[in-house]
Amino acid sequence: MRAIVTAGPTLEPIDPVRFLSNRSSGQQGYAIAGALAAEGFEVILVSGPTALPDVPGVHMVRIETALGMMAAVEAALPADVFVAVAAVADWRPAKISSIKLKLDKSAMESLDLVENPDILKTIAHLPRSERPGLVVGFAAETHDVARLAREKRLRKGCDWIVANDVSGDVMGGAENAALLITPDAEDHFARAAKSEIAAQLADRIAAAVKGACESS
Ligand code: CTP
Repeated sequence: MRAIVTAGPTLEPIDPVRFLSNRSSGQQGYAIAGALAAEGFEVILVSGPTALPDVPGVHMVRIETALGMMAAVEAALPADVFVAVAAVADWRPAKISSIKLKLDKSAMESLDLVENPDILKTIAHLPRSERPGLVVGFAAETHDVARLAREKRLRKGCDWIVANDVSGDVMGGAENAALLITPDAEDHFARAAKSEIAAQLADRIAAAVKGACESS
């Protein structure tokens, strides 16, 4: 059984010294990669820049940008499961300046942005022969968490979505609480260490993927 996991933020360069990014620490994604490895999966972890050490027993692919993450995920296919935990920057600067932009330049007043690829949506919409049998997304929301996550699951075309309330100290913190939304059920994972949430999710994923393998 083979799993691809994305984790961490992406970093979108503006010039040689500046970038756009977000507060993702990578902890939840790294914990899920480790938990899937413990379940017996061969795991490829495609990670944006984090301060975390490599996960033992996991094949690490470190990238910086959303485009780099998209390419690394595509190169890692095929897989039985894809888990998109990364906080991918939705936008990147249209042009990366090769010299440091000066504050008196109009470039710093308005930054032209272009949309990044949606990695989760792309993988979820691959043709059946290439699509991982189970595609799991995350929904980081600050309000209306369950409703927005249900909508996000349908919009992205993923099978399951893990809804996260990030209004508190979840991003960068050691604990998380989650709502796992599947086509036919919703299960709460009570607030616990990110490693514990990861173990519960990996357990569910392993059961689903093993079940699918046995019935095919
Ligand atoms: N995601 C992705 N590629 C992107 C944006 C998001 O793979 N370019 C994935 C994330 O890894 C996560 C899911 O999509 O699994 C939802 O990410 P989130 O940031 O919550 O949603 P957005 O698509 O950015 O939507 P919005 O910001 O409008 O809530």
